[in-house]
Amino acid sequence: MASGPLAVVILISGRGSNLQAIIEQTQSGELPIRISCVISNRPDAMGLELAAQAGIRTSIVDQRHYAERDAFEAGLRQQIDNFNPGLVVLAGFMRVLSTEFVQHYQGRMINIHPSLLPAYPGLNTHQRAIDAGETLHGATVHFVTADVDAGPVIAQAQVPVLPDDTACSLAARVLEQEHRIFPMAIKWFAENRLSIHNGRVWFDGHPRDPFHSD
Ligand code: GRF
Repeated sequence: MASGPLAVVILISGRGSNLQAIIEQTQSGELPIRISCVISNRPDAMGLELAAQAGIRTSIVDQRHYAERDAFEAGLRQQIDNFNPGLVVLAGFMRVLSTEFVQHYQGRMINIHPSLLPAYPGLNTHQRAIDAGETLHGATVHFVTADVDAGPVIAQAQVPVLPDDTACSLAARVLEQEHRIFPMAIKWFAENRLSIHNGRVWFDGHPRDPFHSD
């Protein structure tokens, strides 16, 4: 078993603002982790630049180079496992992963989703929340399981939906919270405060209420 800070591999597909928040807290010493590699399934992901600027190793597993999902996932898995990470972080990784892939990382893969799950899994969460007349919206960090956006919840943050909100203004308010709760959840994991028993998240040795707000 490797010693030292928790080795983390971060998967991205785009902008990388959550990645940047994690990088900043790692650099400042708040987050006791080592980011072993940032892997993107898209060569044009802006987050790759952010990682490179921070001196973090990057890798591209371009999904367009694989005819079959199985081959893509085998390539991705090989890249990740090269680094033997204790935690795999999906930070805006916009690709649904197979049950087999997810099971390989069971209990050590987490995702951030821009809604108060179980409300609004999937895409376009902000517009859907506005259209439904919600007054509360937010973000969720959860363990990844085979059911998309349905894994056990680690942390949630709520924001108000204001009368004149657009999807864009609401997304910005939610994103601010994402940048707070995602590094927080990673820190808890790195400090061994999180675990899963019988499909439920435990925190500091107690079952965690899935609908609490942080
Ligand atoms: C975030 O809203 C995240 O919740 C969702 O994808 C977006 C990624 O943004 N899964 P960024 O690439 O971290 O800026």
